[in-house]
Amino acid sequence: MRITTVIGNRPQFVKAAAVSGRLREVGKETTIHTGQHYDDALSAIFFEELGIPAPERQLGIGSGSNTDQTARMLAALGPELERERPDLVLVYGDTNSTLAGALAGAQAGVPVAHVEAGMRSFDRTMPEELNRVLVDHASDLLLCSTPVAVENLRRESAAGRVELVGDVMADVALSFAPVAAQRSRALDHHGVEEGAYVLVTAHRAGNVDHPARLERLVEVLEAVPFDAVFPVHPRTRARLAAAPALRERLERAPRLRLAPPLGYLDFLRLLSSARALVTDSGGAQKEAYVLGVPCVTLRDRTEWVETVEAGWNTLVGLDVATALAALERPAPAGERPELYGGGHAGERVRDLLAAYTAPP
Ligand code: UD1
Repeated sequence: MRITTVIGNRPQFVKAAAVSGRLREVGKETTIHTGQHYDDALSAIFFEELGIPAPERQLGIGSGSNTDQTARMLAALGPELERERPDLVLVYGDTNSTLAGALAGAQAGVPVAHVEAGMRSFDRTMPEELNRVLVDHASDLLLCSTPVAVENLRRESAAGRVELVGDVMADVALSFAPVAAQRSRALDHHGVEEGAYVLVTAHRAGNVDHPARLERLVEVLEAVPFDAVFPVHPRTRARLAAAPALRERLERAPRLRLAPPLGYLDFLRLLSSARALVTDSGGAQKEAYVLGVPCVTLRDRTEWVETVEAGWNTLVGLDVATALAALERPAPAGERPELYGGGHAGERVRDLLAAYTAPP
């Protein structure tokens, strides 16, 4: 089995860590890095820390609008797939790199496998939602993290074969949490105490690209009544640079520490010991769940609805009062249900890919 994997940004590097090494035990994988994320802090450090095989090909696409970035990736991927002629193209998640990989594979007549298929926020204004829907309907093997995702695909009558495998990002969080606890000095480095601070991430286009929304985000962060560590994503950094008054407000917030983007181990370490996560990220919501950290999500909807149903995640939009109430709420008592496959999703993905034969 010859597989070409297309990855390009931070969450995909994490997901590949659960699959790539295993896949190379049973077949030949060639990894193409689109270059959507090119900063070392968003790319190289993840390969180092997670032991992901170095990509065989680098496309160096870089930044741009969604349309422009996706178009340039597609133009570069076409000839790559023509040359490789793999048996399968593998993509992860919902980014522009995912869409470009899936579409290039489908157009080359190569079966496409999508890990994290079927996730839906039902908000078509999110570029990620558009990417997910398009990728799922271009894919042949739809590998789902949750039963809700399986149901979403059935409702949409997706043509590909649907399999429930669990969540590969949860695998990685579970297996690397002890490593992070041992190796990372992030608590000392950021001057916070076990269980006494909040970890913040915010970069969703819908929250940072519009000045009025960005101001509401700043209001929420100013109101957090605990010490807080906020590693600032390049998109957010750029939007704050264009709105200096807002950036100064964040810099002046007495309990908020702004920081550069974190590597995986430092992120996992800070997350594991936080009293709560405040985020608009998709992946971090489930990472918080598997680590037993309450999550306050700065969005009106989530793809990871089971974390909300289990009482560990609260959707607050950008509303200060709702966010504060959610931060004060104690974590649910009792066992957390096993929602994401118990750390074995990567093995299931490997086995399904190794056994895949395209229908006649
Ligand atoms: C992308 C994904 C998003 C994912 C996020 C994880 C899409 C549509 N969005 O968003 O779903 O949650 O990655 O981080 O694919 N930049 C740098 N250095 C880099 C990469 C980007 O400075 O290494 C800057 C770019 O110049 C641009 C901004 O960050 O200004 C946005 O980058 P881009 O990759 O387009 O989208 P993300 O916001 O990272």
